[in-house]
Amino acid sequence: MTQSLTLPRPDDWHLHLRDGDTLRAVLPHTARQFARAIVMPNLKPPVTTVDAAHAYRERILAALPPGARFVPLMACYLCDATPPDEVRRGFSEGVFTAVKLYPAGATTHSEYGVTALDKVAGVLETMQEIGMPLLIHGESTDPAVDVFDREATFIEQTLKPLLARFPRLKVVLEHITTEQAADLVSRDSSGRLAATITPQHLMFNRNAMFTGGIRPHFYCLPVLKRERHRLALRRAATSGSPAFFLGTDSAPHDRTAKEAACGCAGIFSAPNALEAYLTVFDEEGALDRFAAFASENGSRFYGLPLNEGTVTLRRERHRVAESIPLPDGKAIHPFLAGEELGWKLA
Ligand code: NCD
Ligand code: ZN
Repeated sequence: MTQSLTLPRPDDWHLHLRDGDTLRAVLPHTARQFARAIVMPNLKPPVTTVDAAHAYRERILAALPPGARFVPLMACYLCDATPPDEVRRGFSEGVFTAVKLYPAGATTHSEYGVTALDKVAGVLETMQEIGMPLLIHGESTDPAVDVFDREATFIEQTLKPLLARFPRLKVVLEHITTEQAADLVSRDSSGRLAATITPQHLMFNRNAMFTGGIRPHFYCLPVLKRERHRLALRRAATSGSPAFFLGTDSAPHDRTAKEAACGCAGIFSAPNALEAYLTVFDEEGALDRFAAFASENGSRFYGLPLNEGTVTLRRERHRVAESIPLPDGKAIHPFLAGEELGWKLA
């Protein structure tokens, strides 16, 4: 049995860091595990301009623990009114790595998102021309669509037309949750379509939200799906296809905001993300494919250099913390809180 695995320092291609006290509390967990991360721009107010992204990046760098080597890669929050030149300038100046498309109303802080693709056609044309990736929260916002069908509906109604209209645009379908998404990305042969997959969607199906009662700490968006979909995601992640890569969607919320009559969506997986993913690859007999998923495929898709240095994970049982403290007596309930994992980052 393999007892340890060493791989090039990995990246998290989809991460929420928030701001202020929460940023300071959560950032060290990611900086310990990952060399770089795409930082989601859904702050309040959202990060819609080059200046705002530059200032946010400075706050992240200032919040790093001494000696940490971590590079935040910034995404621009796309609004109906985003000027194409703002996106072009941010990309050429190295401030924006990508643009994030939230359909308006799809998830946490998405109210300033895109109401119709026609409104952002000029931005998408510019991005296609300059080779800048579009990161998509792929869910229909039609309230008549069943919450478990929103990703599949988005693929048919919005994503396929978008891919046809912008045939050279680089697209990452974020945090995929369905076999429809995994199939679409697997079948693409152009190399311009990719997907991130979270640890929770690889490890759990929707039953986890209702085991013995309602479990708000398993609630994220897109919501967990049926077992059939979880199995399709595990096949995709471990397939060796370069189109799938690691993106935790780690999304911290104070526990009282989740344990509430109207609880927030988001799972905080930053402290043990690598160990959780590696557990899945181990169960699937795919340890030899983990480095590609965690450390190579994303870099290649984004056209960025591979990281220097390595991390080592050892086969060692350890228990995940029950709680991550925030100032003012608040706390975050992490993914797999109190559970045992069989791998540990050295
Ligand atoms: C994210 C958040 O809390 O910002 N929540 C989530 O459930 N994933 C938003 C998002 O990525 O959809
Ligand atoms: Zn997210």
